Amino acid sequence: MIYLDNAATSWPKPPMVGEAMVSMLEQAGGNPGRSGHRLSIAAGRIVDDARDRLAALLNAPDPLRVILTPNVTHALNAALLGLLTPGDRVVTTGMEHNSVMRPLRGLQASGVLVDVVPCDPQGRLDLDALRVALVPGAKLVVINHGSNVTGTLQPLDEIVPMVHAAGSLCLVDAAQTAGTVPIDVTALGVDILAFTGHKGLLGPTGTGGMVLAPHLQPEMFRPAYSGGTGSRSEEELPPEVFPDRLEPGTLNAVGIAGLGAAVAYLQEIGIQSVRAREAELVAHLLAGLASIAGVQVYGPLDVEQRTATVSIRIEGLPVSVVGYRLDEEYEVLTRVGLHCSPAAHRTLGTFPQGTVRLAPGLFTTLEEIDNTLRAVAEIAHSVH
Ligand SMILES: Cc1ncc(COP(=O)(O)O)c(C=O)c1O
Repeated sequence: MIYLDNAATSWPKPPMVGEAMVSMLEQAGGNPGRSGHRLSIAAGRIVDDARDRLAALLNAPDPLRVILTPNVTHALNAALLGLLTPGDRVVTTGMEHNSVMRPLRGLQASGVLVDVVPCDPQGRLDLDALRVALVPGAKLVVINHGSNVTGTLQPLDEIVPMVHAAGSLCLVDAAQTAGTVPIDVTALGVDILAFTGHKGLLGPTGTGGMVLAPHLQPEMFRPAYSGGTGSRSEEELPPEVFPDRLEPGTLNAVGIAGLGAAVAYLQEIGIQSVRAREAELVAHLLAGLASIAGVQVYGPLDVEQRTATVSIRIEGLPVSVVGYRLDEEYEVLTRVGLHCSPAAHRTLGTFPQGTVRLAPGLFTTLEEIDNTLRAVAEIAHSVH
């Protein structure tokens, strides 16, 4: 079996991820941040360690501003619903995932003004159009860092200063890049960076969060959910401190233990080496695809401008047939269709059918890429 669905969730996970989760269940099974007994304190330490590691990995100065959530969708919703009120203007791009577009369309129905800046057919943001969109002023700009459809990377080092010059905050959806592309939130000046734990960060499903810049204050966020936090229990309003304000309810401590172990693994090997490995894999994949007649590749061909995720179509075959044949005949696991990103597929011109997405990951081998290329070539030759 060849697993090429790492853009949906990474697999396999490093062995220490499962080990840390079992160890948490067996030896530190208290509720983190609640009771004062030793099992609760042990669980709290594991959560704190994960927060520390995530802050270090992303170069965020304050681990208490690493908010832990069940996935990036929750983090994005917490930021969007927390910051935006009717009358506010928000600017986003034509490459966003539905975890941004759906909350924004919901907010639009309640009076938030939503402006979507176009991207070119490779998925690259039109920076001149962004500059124009910022002229009337916007409270927030939401940018997908790496596309889950084409792997296209947006130049945050150019975008964030433009956003700040217009007096806006910048929220980055780093679902596809946290763990695979080096990210320094302090150097970039990103105000909010949302991440998911189960993709490039190599943690288990049920984990994610966001990192908040030091200048953001808890009162700026109207919590989308509220509940017990283990702190300020005398108050019936959400506490005005991070991370508690945005972390109501018991955390997924077992998942966070796994995420912490995964981040420790990434710290050990270094994100630069992950990036270099994925660049090698995707360069090999793109070169092979270019030589197969009838295969169309979407997204940038320059590996500097993309992640390892590649979208293709085979002329004359529905994407569902290609995905089915790859799975059934060659045991190559991909994802076909719209990838929860209809806006991105409209930008690429691949809506409504979508594409076949080949998403190698850190543990994919060059031999697996070769076998995938052979499979794609055989399927393409069967109709050409
Ligand atoms: C760019 C992007 N944003 C958001 C998400 C949502 O991730 P999750 O389902 O972990 O919340 C994904 C995952 O598919 C994604 O690729």
